[in-house]
Amino acid sequence: MIQVKVTQLTREAEGILGIELRAADGATLVPFEPGAHIDVHLAGGLTRQYSLCNDASETDRYRLGVGLSATSRGGSSYLHKSLREGDMLTISEPRTLFGLSREATSHRFIAGGIGITPILSMIRWCVRHGVPWQLHYCVRSRMCAAYLDELCAFGGEVHLHVNDESGSGVPDIQTLIGDVKPGEHVYCCGPGGLMDAVSHHGQQSGIPRENLHFERFTASPVQVADKSERVFTIVLARLGMRCVVERNESILESLERHGVCPPFSCREGLCRSCEVGVLSGEVEHRDYVLSEHEQMSSNSLMICVSRAKSDELVIDL
Ligand code: FES
Repeated sequence: MIQVKVTQLTREAEGILGIELRAADGATLVPFEPGAHIDVHLAGGLTRQYSLCNDASETDRYRLGVGLSATSRGGSSYLHKSLREGDMLTISEPRTLFGLSREATSHRFIAGGIGITPILSMIRWCVRHGVPWQLHYCVRSRMCAAYLDELCAFGGEVHLHVNDESGSGVPDIQTLIGDVKPGEHVYCCGPGGLMDAVSHHGQQSGIPRENLHFERFTASPVQVADKSERVFTIVLARLGMRCVVERNESILESLERHGVCPPFSCREGLCRSCEVGVLSGEVEHRDYVLSEHEQMSSNSLMICVSRAKSDELVIDL
C-alpha cells in the first residue's frame, strides 16, 4: 500500500474529475506500464480501480480521471463530491491488465467515454516512442470529451464520434475497425455494449483474437446477478478445510463466511487480485481478466466470480 496526497483536482470534462496524486513522503512513486491501473481504498472498505492516464515515464505523480457514474455505489460519487486537495489516500501499486503489445506494428485505440483514461497513457507511450497509432474516441457530447485538447496536440489521427451530433447515437463499428491492417492491434475500453460490438465485429472480420484487447470498468449486470444455481464444495488444500459454496454465493463469500479472508478488490472479475491456483476440479470461468488460453489451461481462477463445474474444486489456499 502507498500513502499519497491529493495535490490537484481538475475538471477535465462534464462529469470527469482529474486527480493528481503524489507520494505523501515526497518519495518516488512505483513506475507503471501504459494502461496500468491502481486500486484506491476509500472509507467504509470500498476499493475502486482507476487507470493511470499520465505519462508512464513520470515517477513523481499519478494522474487519474474519474467519471461520475450514474449508478455509483459510493466510489465515484465520493471522489467527485467530497475529495479535496490535500486529502490523503491509500492506493495499491500499479498493475497492468491492459498493456500494449510489443509485437504490434501499429495500435488502434477505441475509447468510449471515461475509457479514454488508460488509452491516454498508451498514446503518450506511442508518441514518445514514435509508434504509429490512431484513436477513435466515442462520447455522448463534446462537453464529455475529456483530454481532447491534449490528444489532438499529439499530432496523430484522432477521430471523434459524438453521439448527439451523429443522429444515430451509436458509432458505426465498421468505421472503427473496418480497415484494421495485419499486425495492427486494437484496444478498446468503454461501455460494455461498445466492447461487445468491437469484439464481435473484430472476430467476424478476421482480426486474430490475440490482437484484440479489452479493459472493462464494470461487469455485465447479468453476470453479476447470475451466481448460478449450483452448490459445490471448495477444498482448501493448504488450510485443510472444506467449504460448501451455496447457490447465489461466490467462492469468496463462502470463504469469508467460513472465516477465511483472501485478498480481493473489485469482486466483479475485473482486477485479478483474488486469483487463486487450481489444483484439481473443473472451473467455470466468469472473469474478464484471464486470456482465453489461461481459461483453457485453468491453472487459476478468480474466486469472486468463477465457479466449479465439478462437484468439488481443490484450490491452492
Ligand atoms: S476481486 Fe477483482 S477479480 Fe476478483
